[in-house]
Amino acid sequence: MKELFCTVKSNSAIARGIFAMTITLPEEVQVRGGQFLNISTGNPAHLLKRPFGIMRKDGCDITFCYQLKGEGTMCLSKAKAGDELAVTLPLGNGFAIPDGAKKIAVVGGGVGIFPLLSVIESVKGREFYSYIGFRGAEYACLIDDFKAASKQLTVVTDDGSIGAKTNAVSAFLSEYEEVQPHLIISCGPPVMLRALKSQLKERGISTPCLVSLEERMGCGIGACLVCVCKKSDGSNARVCKDGPVFDINEVEL
Ligand SMILES: Cc1cc2nc3c(=O)[nH]c(=O)nc-3n(C[C@H](O)[C@H](O)[C@H](O)COP(=O)(O)OP(=O)(O)OC[C@H]3O[C@@H](n4cnc5c(N)ncnc54)[C@H](O)[C@@H]3O)c2cc1C
Ligand code: FES
Repeated sequence: MKELFCTVKSNSAIARGIFAMTITLPEEVQVRGGQFLNISTGNPAHLLKRPFGIMRKDGCDITFCYQLKGEGTMCLSKAKAGDELAVTLPLGNGFAIPDGAKKIAVVGGGVGIFPLLSVIESVKGREFYSYIGFRGAEYACLIDDFKAASKQLTVVTDDGSIGAKTNAVSAFLSEYEEVQPHLIISCGPPVMLRALKSQLKERGISTPCLVSLEERMGCGIGACLVCVCKKSDGSNARVCKDGPVFDINEVEL
């Protein structure tokens, strides 16, 4: 984990209320798909950095995408090329992809698709079957990037404006028997992850499944316990340090 000052290389809207920012680090850092960064908003009044999944690493350049939510992301959206921001990275465990997992189903919803793209672009020698869902066409982004890195891509929307009118979990499960993946990786809103967990259980599917969780965070480095989630055995885990990626059966969703 490094604390660095980065330079904003680009920062622009890619869909309704969604921005992509590329920063240049002063030195290269190693990153695993699913790890995240903590970045200052550029406003000294915001004491806490904001956490975002790392979407792409190209040498010293790191790209992440963010949805406008509150004051911090609004402030980030105003950053211009050349601005300096403080960043801490890489954080969290990321997706540990077993060597034997040759066929991987990728199930993502909304802003949850960003950390998943980092996995399919960086882990070589696997077949990725991607299922990504958006609220509607105006929120859709990165479809060409997913297409380029996946063996097969299915895009769906809540309103049917792109692809079928369904969600990513249902789209994946409807093709499960055909694809027979060795591993499932997923990231999306809590309601989506809960549906994935209950549907896998209901259908008796025991394929290993890794999910990336999102909790409100304070420090991002395991010290403040703001981000604690419940594990299935009754113990607690820190999403920032012990996660954000967990086995789906290991955590309460
Ligand atoms: C591991 C991880 C990865 C994430 N990756 C992405 C991503 O790739 N793209 C994306 O759009 N969003 C992502 N988020 C959510 C993102 O961090 C929040 O939307 C953002 O921090 C909101 O900041 P704000 O100041 O605009 O909102 P406010 O609501 O004003 O934030 C106030 C405070 O609450 C914290 N906070 C608010 N919502 C969240 C949240 N959902 N998670 C954690 N802290 C929160 C903020 O960091 C800040 O300290 C991720 C969250 C986590 C924990
Ligand atoms: S955010 Fe502080 S312990 Fe996780």
